[in-house]
Amino acid sequence: MAISVEEELEGLSFPEAPRIIVKPPGPKSLELLNAQGEFETSSVVYPKAFRFAIDSARGATIRDVDGNYYIDWVAGIAVLNVGHNNPYVVQSVLEQLGRYWHWMSEVPSEVRVRFLRNLHSILPEGLKGRAKVIFGVTGADACETAVALARWVSGKPMIMAFEGAYHGIHQGIVTATAKTELQVYAGVPMVNIARVPYPYPYRCPLPAKDAEDCGNAILNYIEHLLSDPYSGIGQVGAIIVEPVQGEGGYIVPPRGFLKGLRDIADRHGVLLIVDEVQTGVGRTGKWWAVEHFGITPDIMCMSKAIGGGIPMSVVAYRADYDEKLPEMFHLGTYRANPLALAAGAATIEYIQSRNLLDRTLQLGEYARRTFEDMADRYPVIGNVRGLGFMIGVELVRDKSTKDPGAKLAGYVRRMLFENGVLMHTCGHFGNVLRFMAPLVLTRRHLDDGLRIFEEVIKGSMGYFGLLNHL
Ligand SMILES: Cc1ncc(COP(=O)(O)O)c(C=O)c1O
Repeated sequence: MAISVEEELEGLSFPEAPRIIVKPPGPKSLELLNAQGEFETSSVVYPKAFRFAIDSARGATIRDVDGNYYIDWVAGIAVLNVGHNNPYVVQSVLEQLGRYWHWMSEVPSEVRVRFLRNLHSILPEGLKGRAKVIFGVTGADACETAVALARWVSGKPMIMAFEGAYHGIHQGIVTATAKTELQVYAGVPMVNIARVPYPYPYRCPLPAKDAEDCGNAILNYIEHLLSDPYSGIGQVGAIIVEPVQGEGGYIVPPRGFLKGLRDIADRHGVLLIVDEVQTGVGRTGKWWAVEHFGITPDIMCMSKAIGGGIPMSVVAYRADYDEKLPEMFHLGTYRANPLALAAGAATIEYIQSRNLLDRTLQLGEYARRTFEDMADRYPVIGNVRGLGFMIGVELVRDKSTKDPGAKLAGYVRRMLFENGVLMHTCGHFGNVLRFMAPLVLTRRHLDDGLRIFEEVIKGSMGYFGLLNHL
């Protein structure tokens, strides 16, 4: 007898999760953490935030080497959209593994054409059936290629990027990423990047009465920069934007913002690059976040989930740019790795065949409402926003001043971890907890996680002496 999709998804994850039998890091985790620390750089982030060593992972759950089970709301930073160890993806990769897994990157194969057909069938309107794509390996690589492409086809060097942006840390694209210390570490001068505010309704950088007004104020400012010959901005070839800002704090722009940006770009002959590295492949409940806003990018960056967990990135661009590109415009030994193509093709097929987009919209809406309901009851939750399985919960020390609760967020992350829920932070101040679970998360694991989240929020208010605010 055929089983339902929900029954199938139940079978993907460890049923034991969440279960903590030894406070992490347990002895085996500690041994591996110490051994790794002996050989590897101490310039790491994640092993400090999540002090455990992984044994195995399934669906939306992880088991550590000490036998603890966690609900995974991180998904390898929005990568494993169809879950860890998804049998359909495993089968596709194994099949390819039995054939070949690397040769010269541009040579055709069945798996490459299968991936290309699948990808083209899900591109946003306007690119679907019309775009060309070029492969890369990482998200930064994709954004780097997108910017190079825009400069090349427009003949204009300046790129407009947003406050709070994250596009990667390769030497070129790190100039568009907004965290200044990352630019300093990369050792590159800030050249040819014009920084403009992102519409962050909760903390609008320009005076505004509501979210839409915030978006409009920023659009007016961009319009001004591009039309005033004395704005000092130079020849802008492209604007690069995240349709929902990721590392910057899971910020959803106001409804009309991206359409307004598209109009401005068209009027000024500027290309619009949309970075869907984190938002793509169903994360927001649509294949691409731009579909929520009804716009078509000129150039679109994809990575993370597009390779099903095996490194790969893709840039889609308007086919009319193709004739302008010389051979060797982009190179790289490992582009379009056959195993990544197999995993990526299978990921798209799995999402399609299980109708995961609608499920993500519905379950995501339920999760967001639950967080919002908590925001009504706990003064440390200043703001909740999100689309699908991309939800940001912004913590503050005081709702009236919006004083960012960065330490609080770090503490909540640790307490969640110790109680069997993996959730990471992001945001301008590191005070936003982000929900980015695999799309195959079961309803039970969502509810368990939400319950633990609420208990931890309550407990952390006690820890920080904020209970009298209740
Ligand atoms: C929106 C966005 N663009 C680009 C990147 C860079 O991707 P990678 O870390 O694969 O270089 C990231 C990574 O988090 C991202 O979120």
